[in-house]
Amino acid sequence: MLSTARAVIDLDVPGPTISRHLYGHFAEHLGRCIYGGFWVGEDSDIPNEGGIRLDVVEALRALDVPNLRWPGGCFADEYHWRDGVGPRQDRPRMVNTHWGDVVEDNAFGTHEFMHLCELLGAEPYVNGNVGSGTVREMSEWVEYLTRDGDSPMAALRRENGRAEPWKVKFWGIGNEAWGCGGNMRAEAYADLARQYATFCRDHGENRLYRIAAGASDDDYAWTETLMKAISCLGWTREPRGFFQGISFHYYTVPGPWHDKGSALDFGTEDYYATMVQARRVEEIIRGHAAVMDVYDPGRTVGLVLDEWGTWWNVEPGTNPGFLYQQNTLRDALVAAVHFDAFHRHADRLVMANIAQTVNVLQAMILTDPGTGALVLTPTYHVFAMNTGHHDAAALDVHLTATPTKAVGEGELERVSASASVKGDTALVSLTNLDADGPATVVLDLRGRAVTGTRGRILTADTLQAANTPQASAAVAVHDFHGVRTTDQAFGHGLQVDIPAHSYVTLELNLA
Ligand code: AHR
Repeated sequence: MLSTARAVIDLDVPGPTISRHLYGHFAEHLGRCIYGGFWVGEDSDIPNEGGIRLDVVEALRALDVPNLRWPGGCFADEYHWRDGVGPRQDRPRMVNTHWGDVVEDNAFGTHEFMHLCELLGAEPYVNGNVGSGTVREMSEWVEYLTRDGDSPMAALRRENGRAEPWKVKFWGIGNEAWGCGGNMRAEAYADLARQYATFCRDHGENRLYRIAAGASDDDYAWTETLMKAISCLGWTREPRGFFQGISFHYYTVPGPWHDKGSALDFGTEDYYATMVQARRVEEIIRGHAAVMDVYDPGRTVGLVLDEWGTWWNVEPGTNPGFLYQQNTLRDALVAAVHFDAFHRHADRLVMANIAQTVNVLQAMILTDPGTGALVLTPTYHVFAMNTGHHDAAALDVHLTATPTKAVGEGELERVSASASVKGDTALVSLTNLDADGPATVVLDLRGRAVTGTRGRILTADTLQAANTPQASAAVAVHDFHGVRTTDQAFGHGLQVDIPAHSYVTLELNLA
C-alpha cells in the first residue's frame, strides 16, 4: 500500500538538547554480557587489554558510547563491591542467584569496570546495592572510587594499584526496588533511598548525580511517591536535593511474560504487535514526565530510562537465566522508534540505557561462545546511524497525514520521524514501519537553506533478517538514493521514498 506523510521542520527553531546519554548502555553480570562478552581474561587467545576484549571495545567506540551502567540490574542488589577488588586470585566467589545460578568469581570488579569505561571513552554509571547491602558499604564504594588524599578507602584503592581517584557522576541507589531489589513498597523505598543518598557524598571536586530506583512501566504512583520524597523537607548538605534523577524501566514484550515469543520466528501480526508495544514508550515517558512536572515544574530532576529494549524467549538450547536472544531488523525498528520518542522528550528525559550491550536481550554485539566470533546486530546499526543526534538540539517534526494501520483494538502510525540540528548540519530520522509497502514522506524544510543531503538506509528483504557469523551483513547500512527535490510553498522540499520496513537517516547540510 502506498502511503504519503508530510513533515514540516523549522530548521531555525532549535529545541532542547538531546543528551548523548539517551544513547547510553547497560552491562550486567548476567549470562555472557560481562564474562565472554566484555571480559575474556588476560590469558585469552582473543586480543585483550588487561582481560577486556579489544574487538568489542573497537566496535563500541564507533557508537560513541556515552555511559555504561553496571553491575546490574537485579545483580546490583546482591553485589558486594569489596569482593571485586584486590588481587584476583584472592577474590571470594559467590553464586549469581538471579541469573542462571552460576558461580561468579569476581574477576571483573571495580577496577576492571573503570578500565573498560576508559577504553570505551564512556562515563561510568555505578548502580549501588540497597536490597542486600548497607549504607556504609555504598558510602565506602563512593569514597573508594572518588576520594583523594588521606582516607581509609582512598588508601585501599592505592593499595590495589590506582593512585588517583576516578571521576564518577552517575550513581544508582538500588534497582527495581519494587521487585528483585527488595520487594519494597514505594514509601519504604523512598525513605531508604533518602538515607542511602545522604551518605553518598561528593568528595573533592566529584559531583554525584544520584538516581533513585524508579517505576516499572506505567507505575506513575511510584514516581509520584519518589517526587514527594524529593520535595519534602529534610536536612541535606547537598543543595541539589537527595536525588538528581529518577529512573523507570520499560521493555518491549508483546507476548505474555511466560512466553514472550521468538526473536527470529515471528509473523507479520507479531511484528505489528511489537511495534505497538514499542511506540507505547512515548505514552509512558509522557506519563512519568507529567507527574514530575507537578512537583518539579522547573524540570531540574532528570527522568532516566535506565533499562529498555526487546525481551524475547531465549534462543533454544541456551541457559534460560542468560537471556541470550537473536536480533533482527524488527529489533532495529524498535530501537528507531524509541529514539524518535526520546528526542521528542529531551526536555525531561536525560538518559536511556539499552539492555544490554553484549549477548543479553537487545544487544549491540553477539559473540560466539565457541569461536569467539563477533557479530554486529541490526540494533547496533541504528545506534551508529544516530550518533549525529548526540548533544544536538531537537527539532520539532510536524507530521501530518501519517498513514495508520489497525492493530488489535488500536492503531499504529506507520511512519515515525524525528530530527535535530548541530551547527550547519541537521539529521532527520525516518522509519517506515509498514511490513509490506513503501512510504513516501514529503519534507517541508523551513528557516534555513539546504545545500546538500546524504542518505543512509538500514533494511533487509525480510523483517526476520539477522546477522550471524556466516552472514554478518544480512542487515547492514547502505547509501540511500530515494530522495528528490520537490516544490514547497514556504521552504525547501524533499520527497523521500522509503521501502517497506526500513530506517533512513538524512544528513542535511545547511547554509
Ligand atoms: O536486564 C535484565 C533485568 O531486567 C535486569 O537485571 C532487571 O533490572 C530487569 O528486570
